[in-house]
Amino acid sequence: MLDIKTRIEELRKLIQKASYEYYVLDRPTLEDTVYDRLYRELQELENNHPELITTDSPTQRVGEKPATQFNSVRHHIPLYSLENAFNVDELKAWDNRWRRNLPPSNTEERTADVEYVCELKIDGNALALTYEEGILTRGATRGDGLMGEEITQNIRTIRSIPLRLHPEAFGGKIPARVEVRGETFLPLDVFTQINEERLQNHETPFANPRNATAGTLRQLDSRIVDKRKLDFFAYTLHIPGEDDASITNTQWEALELLQNMGFKVNPKMKLCHSLPEVAKYYEDWDTERLNLPYMTDGVVVKINAFKLQEQLGFTQKFPRWAVALKYAAEEAPTVVENISVNVGRTGALTPLAEMRPVQLAGTTVSRATLHNGDRINQLDIRIGDTVIVRKAGEIIPEVLRVLTELRPSGTEPFVMPTHCPVCGQPVVREKDEAVTRCVNASCPAILKGSIEHWVSRDALDIRGMGEKLVHQLVDKEVVHSVADLYELTPEKLCELERMGKKSAEKIVDAISKSKNQPWSRVLYGLGIRHVGSVTAQLLAEKFPCVEELANASRAKIEGIYGIGGEIADSIYQWFRIPSNQTLIERLIIAELQFTTTFTEVANNRDSNQKLAGKTFVITGTLPTLKRDEAKGLIQTAGGKVTDSVSKKTDFLVVGAEAGSKLTKAENLGIAILSEAQLLEMLAE
Ligand code: IVH
Repeated sequence: MLDIKTRIEELRKLIQKASYEYYVLDRPTLEDTVYDRLYRELQELENNHPELITTDSPTQRVGEKPATQFNSVRHHIPLYSLENAFNVDELKAWDNRWRRNLPPSNTEERTADVEYVCELKIDGNALALTYEEGILTRGATRGDGLMGEEITQNIRTIRSIPLRLHPEAFGGKIPARVEVRGETFLPLDVFTQINEERLQNHETPFANPRNATAGTLRQLDSRIVDKRKLDFFAYTLHIPGEDDASITNTQWEALELLQNMGFKVNPKMKLCHSLPEVAKYYEDWDTERLNLPYMTDGVVVKINAFKLQEQLGFTQKFPRWAVALKYAAEEAPTVVENISVNVGRTGALTPLAEMRPVQLAGTTVSRATLHNGDRINQLDIRIGDTVIVRKAGEIIPEVLRVLTELRPSGTEPFVMPTHCPVCGQPVVREKDEAVTRCVNASCPAILKGSIEHWVSRDALDIRGMGEKLVHQLVDKEVVHSVADLYELTPEKLCELERMGKKSAEKIVDAISKSKNQPWSRVLYGLGIRHVGSVTAQLLAEKFPCVEELANASRAKIEGIYGIGGEIADSIYQWFRIPSNQTLIERLIIAELQFTTTFTEVANNRDSNQKLAGKTFVITGTLPTLKRDEAKGLIQTAGGKVTDSVSKKTDFLVVGAEAGSKLTKAENLGIAILSEAQLLEMLAE
C-alpha cells in the first residue's frame, strides 16, 4: 500500500511537471505517448484505490458529474475595476491626478519619475482563485466585484491554472491562503472554431471572445468547458493575513512570484521608468497586438511600488494607482441596407442605419444611431450608401461619414417621417429642438418604453419583467398604462405565449412587492423628462408627498438647489396633464408609495458620496472650471465621468459650444446641467 501511495505521488509529480512545461512554459518535454502512458497508469491506480484520490490530482481536472447550478460567493477581497483612459493625454491626466492625491508630505513622489508596470489588457473574464495550503480550493467569476459565481469545477479544466502551487516559490513555506487574480480567455483560433460550429448548428455566433469566454464559464458540464480550451494569465497576488511586503514589494516582483508559483504571466509585460516610456509601449502595441493569438483591448498601467499603491488607495470603484489605457475607436466601411426609425419612451424618433455587419473593436456591428433628422441631412446618408462606422469600447456605434463617391445611382435623400412609424399619428418638432417627437400619449411605442423604464432597476425594480414580456402585454392590449400592471393576475398572464403558472405567479408577486418601493423611486419611475434618479431623490426629500409636488409652482420647484429651470418646467407641465393626474390617482389606489418616510430621508443624507452611482459626461467649454477639475469634483463626490453619452448617462454637464453630445443626451432624455447647477449640486 505504501508503495502504491508513493508511486501515485511520483506519477502526479511527473504529470504535473510535464503539463506545466506544455501549457505554461509552452516547452513540451515529454512525448505524447509517454505522457499518456503515465496518465493511464495513474488513472488505473486511482480507480483501484479511490481512497487515495485527492482534489489536486491531474486526473481531477474534468468532473464527471455536471453541476446543477452555480452558487454565489462573496470574494475574500473585492475585485475592483479600472478607470479608462483613451489616449496619451488622458494617461498624463491620470498621472497628474494620482500625484495630486498624495499627501503633501510626499513631495518627492509628487514630481519624481516612478516605476510603472505595463501589462497587456487581455479581453477575457477576470477570475478570483483561492489556494489553501497551496491547493486550489475555490475559483469564482468577478460578478459585481463583491459577489461572484463559484465555478471551481470549470476552472480546474484550465490547464494553465495549477491545481497545486509550486512550494519552491515560497522556499517551501506555503502560506495558509493565497488569492490569485487573472484573466481567462479564449485564444482567437478556438473562438473562430466555436463560432463556425455555432453557425452550422443554426445558433447565434458569439459577438467577441469575451462573450464566448463568459458563455463557456457558465456551462454546467465541465466536460464541455474542457473542450473549449480556455487559457489564463495571472496578474494579481494577495497573501492575506501576512504582511505582503515580506514576500513582495512591487507588482513586478509579484508577477515574478506568480510565475514561480506555476502560473502563466503574460510575457509582454514591461517595467517602465517614466511616463513617456509607458506611452511608447502603448503606441507600439497598438499595431503589434493584432499579431497576437488572443484579443487585447488596451494596456493596464500599474504603479510598481506597493507602498505607493497603499498610500493612494481606491476610489469607490477604482484603484487610484492603475489605469486601463484603451486603444482608440475602430473604424470600418460598410453598406447601409436600410434606415429605420425607432420611437423611444419620450416619444423621440431616432433614425437608425441598418448596415451589412462588420467587425469593429471586437464586436459585430450592424446598427448605428443617426441621432436625428439634422444629423441625417448633415451626412446626406441614403439607403445603399457606403459609410464609415466607428465604435469604441462600450460606446454606441455611429456613422462618421458617407463615401458619396461610391453612391449607386438612383438613390433618394432620406426624409424623416411626418407621422409616427408606430401609431401613425402626426409627429411634432418644437422650435430650437433637434428632436422630432410623437406626442400621442397612447402610442404603443411610448407605452412600452414607459413600462420598461418603470420596471427598471433604479425605478421600481420589478424582476422578471423583461422587454419581451412588456411588448407582449402592450401588443395584446392587456396593459394600457403602468397602473394596469397592478391589476394583473397570474391567470391573465398565463394567457400569454410561453408563460407557465409558476412564472406568472412570480411576476405578479414581484409587481406587488414594488408597492413597497420608496416615493423617490416611484417619482423616477414616472419618467418625467429630465428627472433622473438623483433629481427624483432630491425632489422626494423636498416634497415629502406627491400633492405638494403636484401643486408646487414653477418657481418653488426651481428654488431647489440642483434643479434648473428646464427641469422645473418639465415637472410643472407634467402634473398639469389630465392623463398624468389620472395615472397618479390610480397608482395611489394601487397602494404605491407617494410619501417620503423618515428612513428614506436619513438614507439619502447618510451618504456623503452624494453622486455615488451616477454617471456624468462633460461637453463644451465650461465658464470657470477646466474639464479635469470638473471631472475631479464629480469623482470626489463618488460620481463617474465617461466620455460619451449613452443610456447609462445620468447627467450631461454642458458648456459653451457643445456639440453632438448635447443632441444625443436630449434624444435620450438625459438631464442637462450647467456648471453652476453642478456646483450647486455638490455644494448642498
Ligand atoms: S488589474 C485593481 N490587469 O480589465 C486591479 N486587469 O477594466 C484590477 N484585465 O476587471 C484589474 N488584463 O478583467 C488587470 N493585466 C491586467 C488585465 C486586467 C485584463 C481586465 C480585468 C478587469 C478589467 C478592468
